Amino acid sequence: MTPTRVLAIANQKGGVGKTTTVINVAACLGEAGKSVLVIDLDPQANATSGLGLSRQQGTSLYRVLLRERTIHGLVQESIAPNVQIIPSELDLAGAEIDVARMEGYLQGLSMAILPLVRSKQYEYILIDCPPSLGVLTMNALTAAHGLLLPIQCEYYALEGLSVITHIVEQLRTSRANPEIEIQGIVMTMFDARTRLSQDVAEEVRSHFGEKVYKTMIPRNVRLSEAPSFGKPVIQYDPHCTGTLAYRQLAKEIMSRTQQTSIP
Ligand SMILES: Nc1ncnc2c1ncn2[C@@H]1O[C@H](COP(=O)(O)OP(=O)(O)OP(=O)(O)O)[C@@H](O)[C@H]1O
Ligand SMILES: [Mg+2]
Repeated sequence: MTPTRVLAIANQKGGVGKTTTVINVAACLGEAGKSVLVIDLDPQANATSGLGLSRQQGTSLYRVLLRERTIHGLVQESIAPNVQIIPSELDLAGAEIDVARMEGYLQGLSMAILPLVRSKQYEYILIDCPPSLGVLTMNALTAAHGLLLPIQCEYYALEGLSVITHIVEQLRTSRANPEIEIQGIVMTMFDARTRLSQDVAEEVRSHFGEKVYKTMIPRNVRLSEAPSFGKPVIQYDPHCTGTLAYRQLAKEIMSRTQQTSIP
């Protein structure tokens, strides 16, 4: 059986395309026959609704992070084939305070998902993070093999990135998470018609080199419409540019994981 690859999709900047990337990469990996678990770790619960689930009390990881229950029974089916999900709900917002009081609180998520990782029932676990570097995102980075970093093609794209890349470095060199690496950087909301998008993409590539995926996600209105129908874009509009791009990105992610995965 293939080992599980745990990827945190994070960037402390808001609205850069984290959730859109989680929903659609998960759906495209599922379409390619991979078994995927999405963990929605953002109290906004956008990945939860975007994958066809409504918010329900008691369904999130909150009580698991407080070590009041196990992860058993929290996994639900999503609307996308081969994609399961542990949803989020508003109570997760409380985790920022409550979990931080606990000893070893950064390890909470990695301990919680250990049975799922050991069972190898998923090829990918994708964690959608909130737009901050608080307790939830730090738990995700501590649990992950790789950071998938979405960068929006806009003016201040590179600003603040050194903070999160530095955290990855620190987690690796301290013993908190020796396995973590930057799995890849994805440029989002790319608009080929504008000079700005092209300049930003070029700047990010010159800074991060090979880490940047060749696939860039175009600005595509279908991608922003799909979540209101509770569907990934491949189910909402199978032929739009957003669909094609996320399929291509999923392919790149699969080939990169095969090169880097530890047996
Ligand atoms: N490629 C795209 N083309 C058009 N709209 C997009 C694209 N990617 C994301 N969007 C839209 O931009 C907004 C922000 O995207 P998204 O929610 O994925 O970002 P986020 O980083 O998860 O935000 P937050 O930090 O609030 O969690 C959403 O309304 C989404 O539908
Ligand atoms: Mg989000």
